[in-house]
Amino acid sequence: MRELPRILVLHGPNLNLLGEREPEIYGRMTLKEVNEKIREFAAERGAEVRIFQSNHEGTLIDLIHEHRHWADGIVINPGALTHYSYALRDAIAAVGIPAVEVHLSDIGSREPFRRISVIRDVCIAQISGKGHRSYLEGIERLLEVLRAARDG
Ligand code: DQA
Repeated sequence: MRELPRILVLHGPNLNLLGEREPEIYGRMTLKEVNEKIREFAAERGAEVRIFQSNHEGTLIDLIHEHRHWADGIVINPGALTHYSYALRDAIAAVGIPAVEVHLSDIGSREPFRRISVIRDVCIAQISGKGHRSYLEGIERLLEVLRAARDG
């Protein structure tokens, strides 16, 4: 592991509308506020983060490819792409970087289509239902795995 582990954080479709989008499900924090929490947490834990949001599957895939030599870990909330994007799944598998799938809401207790994740098994963990803390836990989980790999 590098001295400062590098974590790529990706937010998928519709997450730019956090704060105004179905607040009873996703909460009232805006994406900017969520990102501030992520940056704060990463700084405390001694990790470097790059954060992006896109509404486009191809852009998320491009970002994963572009960061394949930069990132030590990926935290991704794929939004609805979770449930059907084999292309995004393949991108995560292709780069071989440990990734954690995160969700603000508890996808296991919502509509049946949300219980299916085509991303889950190319990730080391899925963390769901903890609001913005799902992202923080995702970072924590990655740091544990990276530390364990470093220390053998
Ligand atoms: C989400 C859950 C998805 O089912 C949904 O399509 C989203 C957000 C979440 O963070 O809870 O866009 O990923």
